[in-house]
Amino acid sequence: MANFAATITGTGSAFPAGIVTNQDIVEKLAASGIETSDQWIRERSGIRERRMSAPGNAEEYNSALGFAASRAALEMAGRKPEDIDLIAYATCTPDTVIPSTSCWLQHRLGAVNAWAMDLNAACSGFLYCLSIADQFIQTGQVKTALVIGAEVLSSIINWSDRGSCILFGDAAGAVVVERAEADTPNRILSATLRSDGNLWELLHIPAGGSRFPATAEIIRDYLNKIQMNGRELFKVAVRTLTSFAKQTLKKHKLTPEELDWFIPHQANIRIIEAVAERLSIPMEKVLVNIDRFGNTSSATIPTVLDEAVRAGKIRKGQTVLMDAFGSGLTFGAVLVRY
Ligand code: ACO
Repeated sequence: MANFAATITGTGSAFPAGIVTNQDIVEKLAASGIETSDQWIRERSGIRERRMSAPGNAEEYNSALGFAASRAALEMAGRKPEDIDLIAYATCTPDTVIPSTSCWLQHRLGAVNAWAMDLNAACSGFLYCLSIADQFIQTGQVKTALVIGAEVLSSIINWSDRGSCILFGDAAGAVVVERAEADTPNRILSATLRSDGNLWELLHIPAGGSRFPATAEIIRDYLNKIQMNGRELFKVAVRTLTSFAKQTLKKHKLTPEELDWFIPHQANIRIIEAVAERLSIPMEKVLVNIDRFGNTSSATIPTVLDEAVRAGKIRKGQTVLMDAFGSGLTFGAVLVRY
């Protein structure tokens, strides 16, 4: 029996100001002789527009978006930066390799009593970090945690690949997680996490890390940008999102009808619809923001969560299932009684 339970007490999100519509992408690609259309992007992905940070704008760095989202979450929770013991920051597009983006955030926020760490599990990162916060809180080592999922994916978009460049956007979402009595019903109920490194090739960035530091040739050939096998990833995504959700529901002896809300990773509306159908969860219970923000990797789930909490959709006592997959590949499902 754990000493304590972890409960989500605040949520926040932030987006860059710049809206990039499908038509903007059509025009950008046309300049390099690549064809696409607003209709194709909407029909095949469900995305209408996304936000992108203006390069060089310090107010739209990853850590700046994380800062704005964190401030909103702390305000909702009624907590001050000094109250935070742990900052768990999920990102695959850090401000800098060192220091970590979590330390940049700590510096800006004045969270002087925290220890701060980054975690890269791509799109599953927020759920991995939420689970780490849950575990540290349950054992009593941490009282208040700030968990962030934030990305500036515009920095790694491969503009030579029309199959992937249409999908991604920038955003940050944050939650405050706090210690509660061990028997409190409003808590993080469980996390199921896994990864399969055998599937690394489906979504990766070949160069720009320590294996192949960036050179002029690497930059010219887009080898420091996303390489994706969309068709294969689509199938794996439907299969694993469905299976992790099923495992979680089974573990808690819950039927899909007993679930109040489902928040899947926002990679493609057709993936989301296929998973909902396989789980017999009606789309009215599925929360989405992909139409307005695209795939923001680790930020999709916390930004959807924040929107639903602020809209009064997710209410205290409701059961919420969050479900993700990402590069690695990584997988995770977290069940919360809000
Ligand atoms: N505009 C017009 N045509 C296009 C475009 C485009 N932007 N992109 C691809 N096409 C063409 C292809 O060339 C192909 O043409 P062909 O039949 O003549 O060869 C045709 O459209 C169909 O291509 P598919 O790749 O089969 O298209 P699909 O319906 O699978 O949609 C997509 C592509 C949107 C990428 C989809 O496969 C997908 O969403 N996959 C999952 C991607 C994903 O989840 N990525 C994120 C992972 S999470 C993370 O960690 C970031």
